[in-house]
Amino acid sequence: MLPRRYNLPVPRVAVLADIHGNVPAFEAVLADLAGQGVDEVLVGGDLVGRGPEGSAVVARVRARGWRAVKGNHEDYMLDFRQGRVPDDWLFTEEWSAARWMAAELSAGDIELIAALPPSLASEVLPELRLVHGTPRSNNEGLGPWSSERELSEQLAAVAEPLLVCAHTHRPMVRDLAAGRVVNVGSVGLPFNRDPRAQYAIFERTARGLAVELRQVPYDLAEIFQIYDSSGFLAAGGATARLLLLELEHATPFLVPFLKWADAAQAPREIGRIDEFLAFFRPDEPLSHFYGRLRELG
Ligand SMILES: [Fe+2]
Ligand SMILES: [Fe+2]
Repeated sequence: MLPRRYNLPVPRVAVLADIHGNVPAFEAVLADLAGQGVDEVLVGGDLVGRGPEGSAVVARVRARGWRAVKGNHEDYMLDFRQGRVPDDWLFTEEWSAARWMAAELSAGDIELIAALPPSLASEVLPELRLVHGTPRSNNEGLGPWSSERELSEQLAAVAEPLLVCAHTHRPMVRDLAAGRVVNVGSVGLPFNRDPRAQYAIFERTARGLAVELRQVPYDLAEIFQIYDSSGFLAAGGATARLLLLELEHATPFLVPFLKWADAAQAPREIGRIDEFLAFFRPDEPLSHFYGRLRELG
């Protein structure tokens, strides 16, 4: 039997986001996409940052002519390259990974990410509005913990009945009276304890818009190797080490480390990571960790 897409011309749109300079994860999604018969691909921001190969990710998006929105990590990289950061970010260990990632981008990459819009609508499914975080900010996020009221307010801020977002690296589909909010999850750095590369495909069916959250396995050893061979691991201090742990466990380590360092009054440096790891339990819910942290402070 022929695949369904050859029987009926069904409009299909893929949205992928939070690639974060992870080329092996991105390549796995590109290979998966090749068999999906989609009419449009949109990129939900955070192509760069939190990973070693931002430039290669930008090049692949540019080569395909895919439209993208600007994530907060595009803003961070632009801030570094355009001199809008505090002086100490230019030399302290805490910011060494960000400096390395910003320097890795070409002038052409910077030009492309600077021109990205905060939001865009699909040309194939006009019901679909894509943002990175929320309609009002690319630095606040929606996830499984978001209340129905919060999601309804965010949905009311756009004209379309389908709000598609990313940023929290946690996929979700939430149906509301006024429409639907979908977080497509993350290609390059998932936080839902599933290390596979994740994205979403939207399709108009006779019963309305359907969404499929997809998970694509890839070889984590490849991205670990790139951390090493690119020099990012050696240059990136505590941040690069913690990002490796995030890839492996598909849950946050970096922000918990920063919060722990504040509570323990420890410098945010690689020499304190073992102490942090003795305190942090990656398998416990983050809320439990923050509870234990409050007792510490
Ligand atoms: Fe992100
Ligand atoms: Fe983000």
